[in-house]
Amino acid sequence: MSKVTVVGAGNVGATAANVIALREVADEVVMIDIKEGVSEGKAMDMMQTANLLDVNTRIKGVTNDYEATAGSDVVVITSGIPRKPGMTREELIGVNAGIVKQVTESVLKHSPDAIIVCVSNPMDTMTYLIHKISGLPKNRIIGMGGALDSSRFKYYLSQALGANPNEVEGFVIGGHGDTTMIPMKRFASYRGIPASDLLDAATLDKVVADTMVGGATLTKLLGTSAWYAPGASASEVVEAIIHDQKAVIPCSALLEGEYGEKDLCIGVPCVLGKNGIERIIELDLNEEEKALFAKSAAAVHKTNEALPC
Ligand code: NAI
Ligand code: 2OP
Repeated sequence: MSKVTVVGAGNVGATAANVIALREVADEVVMIDIKEGVSEGKAMDMMQTANLLDVNTRIKGVTNDYEATAGSDVVVITSGIPRKPGMTREELIGVNAGIVKQVTESVLKHSPDAIIVCVSNPMDTMTYLIHKISGLPKNRIIGMGGALDSSRFKYYLSQALGANPNEVEGFVIGGHGDTTMIPMKRFASYRGIPASDLLDAATLDKVVADTMVGGATLTKLLGTSAWYAPGASASEVVEAIIHDQKAVIPCSALLEGEYGEKDLCIGVPCVLGKNGIERIIELDLNEEEKALFAKSAAAVHKTNEALPC
């Protein structure tokens, strides 16, 4: 019996729960929110798709009832406020730090063995906060941002190549921020053919630039931040853990010397399996990439300074 809790039944949380259920990633999904009735209503609505879509996952919604989350294998934290047009993810820190702290303490009381997947923004800093307050081993705290940024990178690459997004490979490391993420154009490919052999430098640079502001572009269009790809990305991370896939997914992980950095969480390629982050892959970065990573890490360190702990 596998069980996943999603904290926050807003746009991202509810989408994540729905994708987890549709893909039958876990046997049971519990959504919990502070807004009376929202989790219950969304869970009931999703359960009413079960016979239409032949889904066997049980979805339950609760308000503030952490007992219902007991024994979860994975807890996805999406509670918090999202960015509005013109806002950066970093501006959310004050409100979201308080929420993430309270939620982490509550879920761990009832699921002491859970692996935590943090989605709330500013995600790298919130992931670091969870390390600071929980004392959990580092493999059990995972920040979700790189999965989403990589999917956006692959989307923009596929558009530039005129390709099916499923034929394209690419990944993003660094902080989950408009100026801190690093789409790794050197590794981008179309079925193994380097993207740089197929696209001119200016086009590839535009793919990188579009990826970096991918979240802001959607926030401007939608009036709030996106949810379909963020929810699906959270589900991808949960699936890798629950199904012990040993999947390589860029995630925000606590670094202890890897990439020349320590005492921060930032996006790096991770092998995800039943133990959470089972390995951090250290890429042999070139000088330009090393400089970008150091700059990104410095920005994440700076944001972490605003934490109340
Ligand atoms: P939303 O406003 O639609 O949903 C947030 C939900 O959290 C609300 O239903 C709210 O009632 C709930 N909530 C607030 N305090 C709570 C508490 N103490 N306990 C339980 N629930 C609580 O926001 P949305 O769009 O779902 O975004 C959620 C967070 O995820 C934001 O911080 C956003 O910036 C972040 N995000 C992160 C992404 C990533 O890649 N890491 C991608 C997209 C969004
Ligand atoms: C996103 O990338 C705002 O983190 C959120 O859509």
